[in-house]
Amino acid sequence: MKRLNSQLQDDGAPMELILLLRTLLAGCKEISFRVSQGALAGVLGSTLSENIQGETQKKLDVISNQILKDILSESGYVKAISSEEEDDVVGCNPNGNYLVSFDPLDGSSNTDINSLIGTIFSITHAPQWMEADDPSAFLQPASQIVAAGYVLYGPSTMLALTTGKGTHLYTLDKTHGGFLLTTANVKIPVQTSEYAINGSNQRHWETSTQQYIGDLLLGTNGPRERDFNMRWVAAMVGDIHRILCRGGVFLYPYDKRDPTKAGKLRLLYEANPMAFLIEQAGGLADTGTGRIMEVMPTEIHQRVAVVLGSKQEVEACLSYR
Ligand code: F6P
Ligand code: MN
Repeated sequence: MKRLNSQLQDDGAPMELILLLRTLLAGCKEISFRVSQGALAGVLGSTLSENIQGETQKKLDVISNQILKDILSESGYVKAISSEEEDDVVGCNPNGNYLVSFDPLDGSSNTDINSLIGTIFSITHAPQWMEADDPSAFLQPASQIVAAGYVLYGPSTMLALTTGKGTHLYTLDKTHGGFLLTTANVKIPVQTSEYAINGSNQRHWETSTQQYIGDLLLGTNGPRERDFNMRWVAAMVGDIHRILCRGGVFLYPYDKRDPTKAGKLRLLYEANPMAFLIEQAGGLADTGTGRIMEVMPTEIHQRVAVVLGSKQEVEACLSYR
């Protein structure tokens, strides 16, 4: 089976980017090991602290963040990092050529039930003018990303990665520690009959979301003239992985509970890398009012509404607006 290095070289990735990705993934392998130790290592449960978004941090959020921060800071390739679990941008090597944004442990409420979790990341060039800890350098649209992906800590540890030459899936071979290519050039089916949304928020949705989901629920009796199935992992990595594997549509729409929040998910750490992966696999990724890839971020912890997945179903959803 083809190794990660060889696929990255075939895709024309520069050597320094390959070395940076290998460093980042070494951190993810460490997280994979720590996660798998679970209760044996006392890593389950919450800390007493909250992150900047007011969410209680799980012990594994803090551990995963520290692992990635340490390995990326020491690598030399990285000028600064921006993490969902850090209040501010963290300066690394002033001469580093890259910026890395990440959600160190997505879906971390799943840690305590031994369910799917993962690390989501994206890499851009570091502008020359940038001071090492200047947050404004991170305010680049996803169209500027040079590599994005996630590592899913499931029954297998898997990597989904794109450098703009298609989306590839790799599986960690724990016998020798390498990521091996298991699906090249993922193609998301254009049509789907499966959707993912947290239906418990239904009463807070906008009318267009109510109508779209309402029509899916009507199945063969409604205007869509077929039955739809529903899945919700409560970890974006898990839902997006399913969509890469067999198609589907994932929504975390705007809801009216807190009008100051555009959505729940974070643009830099979640929406942008997933949008790049999905588009590179032939799907669509939208905020409801435009392509996620084109959103110009205004602050590093910004939130955004998302609908992404199988092309025709995202288009169907958007037609209700
Ligand atoms: O990181 C935020 C997140 O955990 C996503 O991974 C996931 O899709 C979503 O929130 C789950 O939201 P909810 O708590 O509404 O199910
Ligand atoms: Mn997350």
